[in-house]
Amino acid sequence: MDHIKQFIDANKQRLLDELFELLRFPSVSADPKYKDDVLNTAQYVAKKLRECGADNVEVCPTAGYPIVYGEKLIDPAKPTVLVYGHYDVQPPDPLELWHTPPFEPTVRDGKIFARGACDDKGQFYMHVKAFELMMQTDTLPCNIKFMIEGEEEVGSNNLGIFVKANKERLKADVVLISDTSMISMETPSLETGLRGLSYIEVEVTGPNRDLHSGVYGGAVANPATILAKMIASLHDENNHIAIPGFYDDVINLTDAERKAINQAPYNEQEYKDDLGVNELWGEKGYSTIERTGTRPTLEVNGIWGGYIGEGAKTVLPSKANAKISMRLVPNQSSDKITELFTKHFESIAPPYIKVKITPHHGGEPVVTPTDSVAFRAAEKAITESFGKAPIPTRGGGSIPIVALFEAELGIKTVLMGFGLDSDNLHSPNEKYDIFNYYKGIETLPLFHKYFAELSAK
Ligand code: BES
Ligand code: MN
Ligand code: MN
Repeated sequence: MDHIKQFIDANKQRLLDELFELLRFPSVSADPKYKDDVLNTAQYVAKKLRECGADNVEVCPTAGYPIVYGEKLIDPAKPTVLVYGHYDVQPPDPLELWHTPPFEPTVRDGKIFARGACDDKGQFYMHVKAFELMMQTDTLPCNIKFMIEGEEEVGSNNLGIFVKANKERLKADVVLISDTSMISMETPSLETGLRGLSYIEVEVTGPNRDLHSGVYGGAVANPATILAKMIASLHDENNHIAIPGFYDDVINLTDAERKAINQAPYNEQEYKDDLGVNELWGEKGYSTIERTGTRPTLEVNGIWGGYIGEGAKTVLPSKANAKISMRLVPNQSSDKITELFTKHFESIAPPYIKVKITPHHGGEPVVTPTDSVAFRAAEKAITESFGKAPIPTRGGGSIPIVALFEAELGIKTVLMGFGLDSDNLHSPNEKYDIFNYYKGIETLPLFHKYFAELSAK
């Protein structure tokens, strides 16, 4: 443990400076205007892995953005950890709501503000630096492989192809990911599940062109009104999702599981205050923790149509659109839910309009084992570095690749995230606590140590 603290102390400023350099790349995968920046980020990550001592570092091309691979294989008899992360980030919009520019990392109140500070540059880079630490102190106890992708925020479409084509190279005993949250730094936790995702875009078309709302209004259905009604009907009065068959495959938690999940500390007033809402909303019969971690949901991510510019323009729009996502839980299937949604949405369309439905990316839900050697190693590592045992929790977000690793490679994942739900992921003013960054660099070598030790038993 001493060598870990010493390394971090001796390199404190540099560890931060390097992360800042990484955060200055605007690696927005969703927007083609950042293409060169995303590609340069991949090169930077590869360079850093090489500098830390990784072998066979390669920027592997895909049909989209490249995957950075690197490894250090010390002994075939030792277990192998595959570290996964993503160097791409979400678009920074709306820019005007940032207090400091998203790609100029700034420290305020002990926190690093930048797009990607937590999701996922700050988190995956802890692994790179923990690796450097183990190399420099000659304490790497197992084989390690890195796979850092550049398309996580847009659905990891090319990662599946890469994984299928590189099964031998990616062989490992466990996948280790830091791309999730903890309850708080006082209450460390380990996520033991992620929700799946089904993402759909809908377009409702009324008249064949925009109309003068005085000349035609009252005689022709307004697609924006119709779309709003259709969307509103997707939840019933108890906030259950009103798509026939939607819940058919959901595995309900046992009473004991529900009780365990609700043990996690949660203060409703603080939760509401933080979000600035007077009341919470959700599926009847479930707590907030259950609603976000264990229940499927349906959200409108964006809705538009008609005139949204300055001032008032009287118009009856021809079209209205929405982007709708559904979070899924075990044992729901993304394809099946997309199909159920499509059928239902078409069936509720009134004759005044036409509906066009376009599915986007999806992903399958997962639960990760809590009785594995790797999970125990993670518990031990956190207990040692935080002085407190972690609480298992279910995460509400999605990392579609986790189910894919399991299906394609037969490898289970440990989700060892150091972020906080309040870090403003995908929001303006994304942040990551400097404390969490160093704590991660401190904890990860312990994971490797205990994973190697417990695997040998
Ligand atoms: N790191 C997040 C997922 C996450 C965040 C899981 C917090 C648990 C806690 C990841 O980068 C992400 O944003 N995933 C997307 C899905 C993807 C297909 C775009 C998501 O969850 O919306
Ligand atoms: Mn992420
Ligand atoms: Mn994300």
